[in-house]
Amino acid sequence: MNITEKYLGNLSQDSIFLYTLVNDNNINISILSYGGTIMEIALPDKDTGLRTITLTLKNWEDYIHNPLYPGSSLGPNAGRIRNGEMTIGSNNYQLSQNDGRHHLHGGVSSVSYQNWSLKERIKGKNFVSLTLSTVLTDGQEGYPGNREISVSYTLDNSGRFEIQYSGTSDRDTYFNLSNHTYFNLSGLNAPGLSQILNIDANSYIANNEEHLPLQLLPIENSPFDFGSPVSLKDNLESYPNHPQTIIAKGYNNGFDIRNAALRNAPAVTLWDSEHTAGLKLYTNAPCLVLYSGGFIGSEYRLKNNTPTYISCAIALEAQDFPDALHLGEGSDGITLKGERYQRKIVYEFLY
Ligand code: BGC
Repeated sequence: MNITEKYLGNLSQDSIFLYTLVNDNNINISILSYGGTIMEIALPDKDTGLRTITLTLKNWEDYIHNPLYPGSSLGPNAGRIRNGEMTIGSNNYQLSQNDGRHHLHGGVSSVSYQNWSLKERIKGKNFVSLTLSTVLTDGQEGYPGNREISVSYTLDNSGRFEIQYSGTSDRDTYFNLSNHTYFNLSGLNAPGLSQILNIDANSYIANNEEHLPLQLLPIENSPFDFGSPVSLKDNLESYPNHPQTIIAKGYNNGFDIRNAALRNAPAVTLWDSEHTAGLKLYTNAPCLVLYSGGFIGSEYRLKNNTPTYISCAIALEAQDFPDALHLGEGSDGITLKGERYQRKIVYEFLY
């Protein structure tokens, strides 16, 4: 087990660091202090030594204010909030509108775009762990409360990687913390849509044209049926004119995964098309937003120096139901003054 720290450079007054967690089987996970970002996950590969399974950009500077949110921590809220309007108790708040009229991923000074501080680094016998923290002030992006947010990343020798979020506030507030890692388990040797996906969900969320959630619908007879393992590509091709996948240029929808959480079962299983690398995702979050990268263009360079391209990797965001307080579904995000908000996302890597 090992955990290292490397100084990368400065962003104004902030020193930017890269932390790398390595287990005894040589799973490598690199975390950037900027955005508390999961910059890279690499798994042992019998042919190449290591296979990068995330959308990893060439330079750390590419992550600054990156609108694709590659690997970013998301908060105080993941996803969109209609018109930026939020009601907590009897108080109405106007959040910043950074996505047309709507609020997206916590606004322009969200946790994705802050440099997080090192809180703790632990090197155990069978695990390594890194805890980063950041603060948000009362009224920042319109949200109430002086808030403290931390994330712990723990990698162990069984191939489990656990993300644990925690949030506290001095006023009643709302937290919906998540992570925006894009995965391509083939190591970007095949399009992201050729990955084989299985989601333990009976219903998905239909969106309007602005990607705002409208209602839960059954997955049957739709491209959202991932009840058995199937590639995203095959499901899209089975329903070529489905209005939802046209809006999203693929997928940009939530799935109800509350059952999986109750059973402590994996909510998601993902494999590359050759079945050489996989992951299982466990979480206590009620919803999984699948964003298949339909709006990724060629504007960034990947670690292997090739340009990014549409759906080169897919994001699996375990979170509250998007716009939960308007949708009236599955929210665990209202956090009262003095309470502790906690969310867990666990990946189990298979290779
Ligand atoms: C959203 C997409 C958005 C993307 C930003 C995703 O989580 O659902 O609508 O375009 O983040 O890169």
